[in-house]
Amino acid sequence: MGRRLEGMSVLVTGGGSGIGEACVHRLTAKGAKVTLTGRRAEKIQTVAEKAGPNALAVPGDVTSAADRAAMIEAAVEFGGGLEVLVNSAANMYRGPVDELTEEGLQDIFSSNVIAPMLLTGLALPHLRERAGAVIFFGSVHTQRAFPGASPYAATKGALETLTGVLAAELGPQGVRVSCVRPGGVLTEINQRAGLMDDATAAARMASLGPAHAIGRPGTADEVAESVEYLAQAEWHTGAVLTIDGGLGLGVTNA
Ligand SMILES: NC(=O)c1ccc[n+]([C@@H]2O[C@H](COP(=O)([O-])OP(=O)(O)OC[C@H]3O[C@@H](n4cnc5c(N)ncnc54)[C@H](OP(=O)(O)O)[C@@H]3O)[C@@H](O)[C@H]2O)c1
Repeated sequence: MGRRLEGMSVLVTGGGSGIGEACVHRLTAKGAKVTLTGRRAEKIQTVAEKAGPNALAVPGDVTSAADRAAMIEAAVEFGGGLEVLVNSAANMYRGPVDELTEEGLQDIFSSNVIAPMLLTGLALPHLRERAGAVIFFGSVHTQRAFPGASPYAATKGALETLTGVLAAELGPQGVRVSCVRPGGVLTEINQRAGLMDDATAAARMASLGPAHAIGRPGTADEVAESVEYLAQAEWHTGAVLTIDGGLGLGVTNA
């Protein structure tokens, strides 16, 4: 592969849990200098301590302009520059369309779409210097219709679409833009949104097993593996990389 992870400076938003956390462990284990952020300071601190000296926890909210500036600055200082921005932070919001609130919709677009776009702009001068990369997260929700999940699906559709446009825009500046599209992975995203408890989330995810070609949901580390690839792949830009065990295929045994 084109690049080595050893010494690579990476900023992972939403690094305190789930897929973001798995990215922190996978990348630091290979020698990358990873700054991770999230709103719950204890959560990211615990992950950073487990990951060791290659990780730095910087509490912050991606919807705050001041926090976005602080997290970029911290990553540049810790890593001696910034090579890869991994936009993992996101939230779930779902409900019947006639019950959605303006505030709820604005919140989810703010954290899931607007914040990663603004962070990308802020990181750009540093990414240019390193001929770096931006990674967004789409979702199988853009491929399979989950009734009631229109707000979340709409935000993920936006990210998948802007991946191509930004790749075209930033390619001439030497910066790659990619998107990972995971399928079902048991994390805390639904529980944080107050939609279900841990046991219900686990049962729901297990019930999705047969809908996967591989027959099971994935793990956060299996998704992080594709982030590791995209961080290093010099000729990969503008594409959405599906990593979903075949959930998006719509396997039908009629
Ligand atoms: N799990 C799946 O099945 C799945 C499938 C497709 C796509 N994805 C995508 O994968 C990515 C990771 O999700 P996940 O499943 O790993 O969920 P997760 O465990 O809930 O991780 C999301 C993280 O984002 C952080 N976060 C949320 N809002 C934030 C904000 N305003 N500022 C800073 N941090 C914020 C949360 O921490 P704090 O609350 O402490 O801030 C949390 O640690 C997301 O983009 C998600 O849409 C997941």
